[in-house]
Amino acid sequence: MYLDMDPGHDDALALLVALASLKVKGVTTVAGNQTVDKTSRNARRVLDLVHCENITVHQGAAKPLFRSLVTAPHVHGSSGLDGYHFRVPAREKDIPADAQQWLEREFSQDPDDICWIATGPLTNVAAFLIGRGEYIARIKQLIVMGGALNQGNITPYAEFNYYVDPDAAHWVMMQDIPIKVVGLDVTHQALLEPNALARFSALESEMGRMLHDLFAFYFKHEPNRRPQGVPVHDVLAVGAMVHPEFFSWQQAHLMVERCHERYRGQMTVMPGTANPSTEVAVDVDTVRFFDWMWSMLALLQRKE
Ligand code: RIB
Ligand code: CA
Repeated sequence: MYLDMDPGHDDALALLVALASLKVKGVTTVAGNQTVDKTSRNARRVLDLVHCENITVHQGAAKPLFRSLVTAPHVHGSSGLDGYHFRVPAREKDIPADAQQWLEREFSQDPDDICWIATGPLTNVAAFLIGRGEYIARIKQLIVMGGALNQGNITPYAEFNYYVDPDAAHWVMMQDIPIKVVGLDVTHQALLEPNALARFSALESEMGRMLHDLFAFYFKHEPNRRPQGVPVHDVLAVGAMVHPEFFSWQQAHLMVERCHERYRGQMTVMPGTANPSTEVAVDVDTVRFFDWMWSMLALLQRKE
């Protein structure tokens, strides 16, 4: 399993759940929630904190394909993972800026078809596949956290990942790839309840303390927080890979607005024949999802 992320609080939680439920081959990082040097450092620190030093981090795109970068310090803080003081040494020197080369090497040597989860702007995914058509046919499943059928979180029309790099998002949606899109339509249903802070602390581990401190910050800053809780967007993308049955899916031929600035990043369903390979999540069983999420955290804790 290949992960492309922009940690980010929900990316960090998604990474931990992925470590418990999937065979993670490596993490590529992209600019989004914060600059790519910070998202890379954050991925490295989370992996080191749960003793997964063997899983490598490969730094990717520092900006969208054609546009200037938009980050989200108002949500994730200046570090991208504000709230927790990492005691593990920052190993930035161990983070090569070789995401594209690493993907090429890994994909070419991987005997299996490719399973890929992207939880940030799709810059790395598009940059890799553009001009490498031979790999498109080898993608067994791409799960994307992004988009929304009828809402937005960075503008009224667009979800953040698709807003940051709409050109990459549109290009990827146009490809004949088995894609499951996990957008705000479901991530705004699955809210992590406020009692999660106590449950993180009850894990009685450094991982639990990290999650408590990170989400104490996130609960105060996520713009779509509700009394019922906060969205944990990226964790649902991991859930969709492991348990697609937790979700209801609609086949759709999707496009992403790139021209009209007001609607930049808006995901719309194109009329006509749905792309048989693209599905959008339209509902989620939140009880089964969160039961699974907590069981994965407990499993990871035991592995530590
Ligand atoms: O809109 C939510 C998405 O944007 C999540 O992936 C979050 O981490 C941010 O990257
Ligand atoms: Ca993200």
